[in-house]
Amino acid sequence: MPTDDQGTFHQQYVTPLRRAVDHATDWLRTVQDRSVRPEVTAAQALELLGGPLPGGPTPAADVIEALVTGVEPGLMAIGSGRFFGWVMGGTLPAALAADWLVSTWDQNAGMRQATPGVVAAEEAAAAWLLDLLGLPATADVGFTTGATMANFGCLAAARHAVLERVGWDVERDGLTGAPRVYVLAGAERHGSVDLALRYLGLGAAGLVDADDQGRIRPDALDAALAGIPQDAPIIVCLQAGNLHSGAFDPFRETIAAAHRRGAWVHVDGAFGLWAAAVPSLAHLMAGCSAADSWATDAHKTLNTPYDCGLAMVADRAALRGALGVHASYLLHDDGPGDPYEKTPEMSRRARGVPVWAALRSLGRAGVADLVGGLAAGATAFADGMRGVAGVEVLNDVCYTQVCLAFADDESTRRITDRINISGVSWMSASQWRGRAVLRVSVSNWSTDADDVARAVDAVVDALDRAPAV
Ligand SMILES: Cc1ncc(COP(=O)(O)O)c(C=O)c1O
Repeated sequence: MPTDDQGTFHQQYVTPLRRAVDHATDWLRTVQDRSVRPEVTAAQALELLGGPLPGGPTPAADVIEALVTGVEPGLMAIGSGRFFGWVMGGTLPAALAADWLVSTWDQNAGMRQATPGVVAAEEAAAAWLLDLLGLPATADVGFTTGATMANFGCLAAARHAVLERVGWDVERDGLTGAPRVYVLAGAERHGSVDLALRYLGLGAAGLVDADDQGRIRPDALDAALAGIPQDAPIIVCLQAGNLHSGAFDPFRETIAAAHRRGAWVHVDGAFGLWAAAVPSLAHLMAGCSAADSWATDAHKTLNTPYDCGLAMVADRAALRGALGVHASYLLHDDGPGDPYEKTPEMSRRARGVPVWAALRSLGRAGVADLVGGLAAGATAFADGMRGVAGVEVLNDVCYTQVCLAFADDESTRRITDRINISGVSWMSASQWRGRAVLRVSVSNWSTDADDVARAVDAVVDALDRAPAV
C-alpha cells in the first residue's frame, strides 16, 4: 500500500485499532467493579457470534464492534482482584502493552537471525528469569504456550538424556524396543505431567506416596527407587507448588536420592518456582536448583497475558537433541541457539516479549513484592476464614493457595456455587484428599486487602443459615 494513502491507512488500521483501545480501556477501567462471573453461556454468546458466514467483507472497525458485543457478556473477569479461580494471573500493564506490539510486529520468533529484535528481548528475559528463580545461568529457556508444554519440553529432554546414557538414540530409533524408562512422580503431581508423559510415549508415571500437604515423601521415593533395576533409565518428577495446598516437595533430599540413581529430575513449578524470588519464601525452594529441568508459567504468577510458559533445562544439548530440527531452508544460529530448538513449536509468536516487559517494569524488588503480596493475600484470606464458625482451612497456608471445607461435601459445593453466582468473587470447586473443597488461588497482581476482605465476606454471606423462626 502506498504510504501517502493516509485515508486508506486510517480506515484500515487506525480506526479499528482505536476502537480496540477504547474497548480495552473500558474493560480495564470497569473490570474491578463488574460481576466476576460471565453473564452468559457460550451457547448464548454463539447466538450473536455465529450463524452463516457473511457473503462479503465487513470493515475492520465494524468487526471489532461485533466482536465486543458478542464476546463481552461472556467474559470471566479474570483480571479482577477478586478472581481466585484455578491458578490464573491477571495482566500487568507493561506486559499487556508489549503483547499488543507482539501482535502488531507479527514476528515469527523461531529463528534468531531472522527476528533478532524479539529474540534478543526473549534472551534478556530468560537471563533475568534464571537469575530471579535461582537456576543455573547456563540453562536453556524455551517460551512455550504454558506449563503443560513446558513440562513436555523438559521431559522430552529428560527422555533424550536418560536413553542416550544407556546407548539408545530415541530421536532416531523411537521407543519400540528401547530400554524401559522408569518414571516416578508424586501422587499429587499435576495432570499436565501425566499429559506430557503420554505425549512422549512414556505412559503413566509410577506414583509415590505424598504427605498430608501433598508433598512427595522422601522415604517412599527411596523405596520406589530401590525397586528399579540398577542402571535403568529413570526420570523423577517433583513439584514446586501443590495446586491445593501450595506445598513444595522437599527438594534437597529427593533430588540427591534421585541423582544417586542417575535419574533425571524434573520440577513442575508452574506457579511455585516464583517463591525463589522472595527472600521470605525462598526457603520453600531450597535445593531445587540442583534439578535438571524446571517448568513454569509466566501467565500465572508473573501476570503476563495468556499465553506463556517456560521450559528451563540445565543440559542444553539434551533439550536441543529432543526438540531441535535442521532443515535446509532454516537459518541456524550456532551461538545461543534458535528458539525453535527449545520449544515444541517451530513457528510461534514472540510470547517472551511481554515477559521482558513485565520484568523490566517490576525490577527485582517488584517481582519479590508481587509474589510476596500474593502469598500474603492467601494468608490474610485464610486468617479471615479461621474465625468463622463452620469453616475449616484444610491446608498449611505457606504460599498462594487456600483450601476450605464446610460441614460436608454437599455444603461445600453449594457454598462455592453461591459465591460464584453472586458475582462478587470467583473460587474453584475441587476435590482434595477425598473431600470436596473450595479452593482459592491468589494469583492476581491487583488483589489488595479490600479484595481479600470482600472475598471473606462473600464466603460468609454464602454460608448456610438456619431458617429464621
Ligand atoms: C502445578 C501445575 N502444573 C502445570 C499446570 C499447567 O499449566 P498450563 O495450564 O499453563 O499449561 C498447572 C496449571 O494450573 C499447575 O498448577
